[in-house]
Amino acid sequence: MSTPAIETTDLTKTFTSGKTATTAVDRLILTIEPGELVALLGPNGAGKSTTLKMITTLLTPTSGTVRLLGHDVAKRPAEARRHFGFVGQGNSAGSLQHGRDEVVVQALAHGLGRRQAAARADEIIDALGLADFAHRPVERLSGGQRRRFDIAIGLVNRPEVLFLDEPSTGLDPASRAHLQGIIRELHEETGATMVLTTHYLDEADAPSQRVVIIDHGRVIADDTAGALKAGLGDLVTLHFDDVCRAAAAADALRRQHDRVEEAGTSVGVRTDDGPTAGLTILDGLRDAGLQIAGIETSHASLDDVFLHLTGRSLRESDSETGESEDVDPDSPDDNRPDPTEPNPTEEVAA
Ligand SMILES: Nc1ncnc2c1ncn2[C@@H]1O[C@H](COP(=O)(O)OP(=O)(O)OP(=O)(O)O)[C@@H](O)[C@H]1O
Ligand SMILES: [Mg+2]
Repeated sequence: MSTPAIETTDLTKTFTSGKTATTAVDRLILTIEPGELVALLGPNGAGKSTTLKMITTLLTPTSGTVRLLGHDVAKRPAEARRHFGFVGQGNSAGSLQHGRDEVVVQALAHGLGRRQAAARADEIIDALGLADFAHRPVERLSGGQRRRFDIAIGLVNRPEVLFLDEPSTGLDPASRAHLQGIIRELHEETGATMVLTTHYLDEADAPSQRVVIIDHGRVIADDTAGALKAGLGDLVTLHFDDVCRAAAAADALRRQHDRVEEAGTSVGVRTDDGPTAGLTILDGLRDAGLQIAGIETSHASLDDVFLHLTGRSLRESDSETGESEDVDPDSPDDNRPDPTEPNPTEEVAA
């Protein structure tokens, strides 16, 4: 077996402030093989950024170990750093510097000569479709363009492992989809191991995408999005005219199904095959003399998986913590296409 790209063992981080201790990451165990593209999915405060910061030597773990391509990052941080790129959460601060210059500076910082640094910057800028904006001050770029420059910076040293912390936070859905496409293309072209964090369900929801769900600093699920959803099965939802009828139906259904839940005048039944089960359920209720007002079947979503595991919705978790898009209406830091651009629709061309 090859050496894993990333291997964490009981990785833990407890922040202490006065008498308050917050365990942000709690004995986290994670193995990622070379060449994988993995999404760490979890609500705000789940411990995703803290995990990435410990893996990338930016934070010292309270306990536990991290191996990156076999190197113990605590013992050999400089060696580990040579192998990865890190695109932090919200790197793109306003700057008068041109996008290309920022990439060149990073290439120089990685030890390339001036000419090599310029060539490397242009190569990545082309690969990320940024050539048209390369000589514009960063503060005049859209959110999606800035994030692409952030990714360019993370790629400067041709990392074997690239970490992207919330690459598309704050972007509108179209820009997000475009950036996701770019990340997938980069993954295919470079063959690098890529680990991204997200709390957007759509970002993790491709059938073969490996998704590691993190909550309260722990891994609570780890599989492809397709397998996680298939494991939960389909949902048949039955609607009734009144609560009494719904309760009677739930009682009857529980005799044949394990996973039956009542919610007011509705009853949900989890089953492996929604359409087939739906027909059987209809027959059974008719025989029992219970008239239904409506029926629908749906496949499980990643949010259903999260709800099933935690009792909370990932969507609600986000709105509870007041996620903000952080957009200043008076600044150019939004994600609307810039009308002065040669191709104003480029952000949506996924
Ligand atoms: N430097 C710090 N000092 C104290 N507590 C911290 C610090 N950094 C993070 N935390 C706490 O640790 C927990 C995990 O934070 P973390 O930033 O890792 O979450 P996250 O999953 O990245 O969330 P988000 O989706 O909002 O980026 C939170 O409760 C947070 O408040
Ligand atoms: Mg974070």
